[in-house]
Amino acid sequence: MERKRALLTFASLFLMLFASIMISSCTKEGPEGKPGLDGIDGKDGAESCSACHNLSEVLQAKLSQYSNSTHASGDNVHRNSSTCARCHTSMGFRNYIKDGTMATVDNPTPINCRTCHPIHETYTPNDYSIRKATPVTLAVGVGTYNYGNSNLCANCHEARTVTPYPVLGGTDVTITSSSYGAHYGPQSNMLAGIGPIQIPGSMTYMNSAHTTLVTGGCVTCHMSPATGNRGGGHTWAVKYLSASGTESYQYTGCLSTGCHASTSIVTALINPNRTEITALMDQLLAKLQVKGLLNSSASVTTPKTMTALQAAAVLNYKFVYGDHSYGAHNYRFSKALLVNSIESLN
Ligand code: HEC
Ligand code: HEC
Ligand code: HEC
Ligand code: HEC
Ligand code: HEC
Repeated sequence: MERKRALLTFASLFLMLFASIMISSCTKEGPEGKPGLDGIDGKDGAESCSACHNLSEVLQAKLSQYSNSTHASGDNVHRNSSTCARCHTSMGFRNYIKDGTMATVDNPTPINCRTCHPIHETYTPNDYSIRKATPVTLAVGVGTYNYGNSNLCANCHEARTVTPYPVLGGTDVTITSSSYGAHYGPQSNMLAGIGPIQIPGSMTYMNSAHTTLVTGGCVTCHMSPATGNRGGGHTWAVKYLSASGTESYQYTGCLSTGCHASTSIVTALINPNRTEITALMDQLLAKLQVKGLLNSSASVTTPKTMTALQAAAVLNYKFVYGDHSYGAHNYRFSKALLVNSIESLN
């Protein structure tokens, strides 16, 4: 019935069209009308493109810095299972921040311009805005990371959920995964001082001045004006190898107004702090190994049941290790975690 009616409608439309063609071809043409007014000139199709693809070298500079970064390396872009893709692949991240989707992606690409900026979405300089810079509710611990544009970074550089998560004074825990821990990138938690288990001990938990003073978070220190394509800017490196192969620090961020007054002052702080934190990490690791809580490759031999306090010490070691800043992000907090964890094993 429905189909018949549709056919009829179609047939009558066709007839009407035919008739109108017949009529117009029989009508005689009249004299030509006056020419109309000139239209407004159209926009140059390439004009919006040249906001970025022009004779300046901004794009080139960013590309050169980026190509020297660990983000560009692609070393871990094969970590593309449903639980890994959101941080290790570009499209996986974009899906995740859009609506929380965590899924494997086709043709995974390393983190690139489009991961962090909505490139070629409006073809205006707005394409260089930050894809997502809203505060991040941290997955581990109770709190939010809220440090300007670097909120973007916290979506990936945060501790991953730990199961089972020990409760001090609570029941023993049984660990079944050899990669038990907060994973490699808990930098947001460390800077904010949120997440690891505050085992009581001789040291009071306090945050370094970085937690409150460095309101731009990661970006202030890791994206200060670039040193060639070795440090800062879109290399994201704070520590890099100079042309002659020596280890150098990108100090520009440290010297921001209201922060440290000179490079020598920063060096005098960073070197001893680094030595101290590294030594404490070694001590804690050795203790955990002697007690059979961590093995020679610093992971748990599973399955393993331990007390909540022991599991907390394991987590704290992995947390400070995964942060990879050896105290630079939050010296006081890192030190208290290590010292009190060591004491808890005595
Ligand atoms: C907001 C800055 C911006 C604007 C505006 C812009 N582009 Fe791009 N374009 C980029 C960036 C960034 C890349 C990526 C560079 C890379 O990864 O090598 C790119 C890459 C390209 C590429 C290389 C292939 C690709 O897609 O990666 C082409 C071609 C291109 N753009 C053409 C255009 C055209 C045509 C327009 C205007 C209609 C335009 N772009 C507008 C920033 C911009
Ligand atoms: C919440 C984001 C996040 C998730 C989810 C995640 N990773 Fe990572 N991963 C990172 C970050 C960030 C780093 C780099 C941190 C650093 O260098 O300090 C990293 C580093 C690594 C490294 C070490 C690379 C090296 O050379 O040191 C491996 C291996 C790795 N991840 C594997 C995985 C696997 C496998 C999964 C899924 C089971 C996974 N990751 C899920 C954020 C994540
Ligand atoms: C990991 C995320 C990330 C990636 C990848 C990334 N950017 Fe950025 N970009 C940022 C952040 C964050 C800022 C803002 C920095 C600030 O607040 O000082 C920024 C700023 C910019 C700016 C404007 C401010 C400035 O520094 O001059 C441009 C232009 C830019 N990016 C281009 C690019 C291009 C081109 C690429 C690819 C080669 C790229 N970005 C890749 C995060 C990223
Ligand atoms: C999409 C997730 C993601 C975002 C967003 C992101 N990162 Fe990363 N970052 C990673 C991963 C994954 C690695 C390790 C890459 C690898 O090993 O392949 C990494 C590596 C790094 C490294 C180098 C670590 C090393 O050991 O060499 C630094 C520094 C860094 N990121 C800082 C930042 C900063 C600052 C921001 C924000 C401007 C940011 N990242 C945004 C996932 C991310
Ligand atoms: C106060 C400055 C400062 C802030 C803020 C900061 N970092 Fe760092 N970060 C450093 C310094 C300095 C090191 C190098 C420590 C060393 O090895 O001596 C470092 C090391 C790292 C590393 C280890 C790899 C490397 O480049 O040496 C990663 C990854 C990293 N930071 C990511 C982040 C992320 C993500 C944030 C934001 C959540 C952040 N950092 C905030 C100063 C900072």
